[in-house]
Amino acid sequence: MNAPTPSPYDSDSDESASHAQFVDWLRSVAPYIHAFHNKTFVVAFGGELVKAGALDALIQDIALLHAMGMHIVMVHGSRPQVEEQLMLRNVESHFSQEMRITDPAALECAKEAAGELRLDIEAAASQGLPNTPMAHARISVVSGNFVTARPVGILDGVDFQHTGIVRKIDAESIRMSLSNGKIVLLSPLGFSPTGHAFNLTMEDVASSAAIALKADKLIFITETPGVVNEYNELQREMTLEDAQRMQSQNTLSADAAFYLRYATRACRGGVARAHIIPFALDGGILLELFSHDGVGTMVSYENLESLREATIDDVGGILQLIEPLEADGTLVKRGRNQLERDIDHFSVIEHDGLLFGCAALYPYPKERIGEMACLTVSPDAQGTGDGERLLKHIEQRARARGLERLFVLTTRTEHWFLKRGFVKAGLDDLPDDRRRLYNWQRRSLILMKKL
Ligand SMILES: CC(C)(COP(=O)(O)OP(=O)(O)OC[C@H]1O[C@@H](n2cnc3c(N)ncnc32)[C@H](O)[C@@H]1OP(=O)(O)O)[C@@H](O)C(=O)NCCC(=O)NCCS
Repeated sequence: MNAPTPSPYDSDSDESASHAQFVDWLRSVAPYIHAFHNKTFVVAFGGELVKAGALDALIQDIALLHAMGMHIVMVHGSRPQVEEQLMLRNVESHFSQEMRITDPAALECAKEAAGELRLDIEAAASQGLPNTPMAHARISVVSGNFVTARPVGILDGVDFQHTGIVRKIDAESIRMSLSNGKIVLLSPLGFSPTGHAFNLTMEDVASSAAIALKADKLIFITETPGVVNEYNELQREMTLEDAQRMQSQNTLSADAAFYLRYATRACRGGVARAHIIPFALDGGILLELFSHDGVGTMVSYENLESLREATIDDVGGILQLIEPLEADGTLVKRGRNQLERDIDHFSVIEHDGLLFGCAALYPYPKERIGEMACLTVSPDAQGTGDGERLLKHIEQRARARGLERLFVLTTRTEHWFLKRGFVKAGLDDLPDDRRRLYNWQRRSLILMKKL
């Protein structure tokens, strides 16, 4: 009898491992591609990105997003290029209240810088050499008089001359271009009904455009790594409330504070998410959009009432949520007394006075590790992202306490956690105090996530 012919697909060579890795990777980004189809993203970047030579790579990534069906509005800044023009002409820069005073010479420089940048961006979007990510890309970039501006005017006796602020964005025309498959490019210049040009900030134009277009995301690609707290820790996710608290503490770098101000403005204006990511990281926009944890800071609008720390008044509501799951063995039993004692560990999701979800964080500060326990979402609210919001919130609480890892013990929810960045761990990975309490009868799986 002949030996079976080996299939060309089941060799355990490096090649087949890398095929499998490629397929896994592509499948793992599929949910994001489906979710972002037909969504509108405003992508804003400073002139610093162009100066750093990162424009071609960014345009290649934007071309990819566009090909995947996302509607893209680009907004460019021009600060370093305006400075260059001013230097070339021997014109001094004047600032007041952290704003440029745009005199007629500075306005000329701003126009020149914006014109040159627009041409550079259009040229980058026209690349199409074979064997580059732009091969076969067909991008048509549209720019125009989409931004109406008004003068800042005279503030505290200082005349800001041609420095302006956005008065209106022609969202309808932009939308029309987007639905015709174009990428729209906005410059930091706007025009008044009197026919004058005004020098604007890229952040003002970008956040105003995102609000006017009811964009799904505003993404600032910046010279900062994102928002970093006083311990130099990157804040990956912030609610509007967190962002406002940080701004009032005055511990942020001037650049981060400026971006955060406009990110929160956009969220307050109805944009679901605003991101601040670094251009220093090649492909940062792809990593931010297509990976679970992203690479920069994301500010999201969150109904401040709905996700909060629990109080003693929540004990009854939490018991109602968890009792059916305790009864069927999904969760470990906790009596009212234990819950009352542990209530400070809990966070809850509340809608209209009713609790729809809860989770608890038990920190082990010595080992810099925390346990997330009792994650529960009411059956009526499951599948709408509340579980994920609770997880993110607990992660944030853990990071704020200086913890570096988070673990869960689960018997029935393994895949939910694996999908969200947890990996299997062993008993030895638990802190000593927790290991001693491990219940061998439940034989729960231990899953761990690096924060
Ligand atoms: C696990 C739980 C908290 C998720 O809450 P949720 O609000 O439904 O979660 P999200 O909306 O963020 O995510 C929903 C996704 O998780 C999936 N999911 C829900 N329960 C799951 C489970 N046990 N295993 C794997 N996936 C699960 C859903 O199918 C859905 O997938 P989809 O987005 O591909 O459609 C919730 O199902 C629950 O309370 N389960 C019972 C309690 C429990 O098991 N807690 C964990 C204790 S360790």
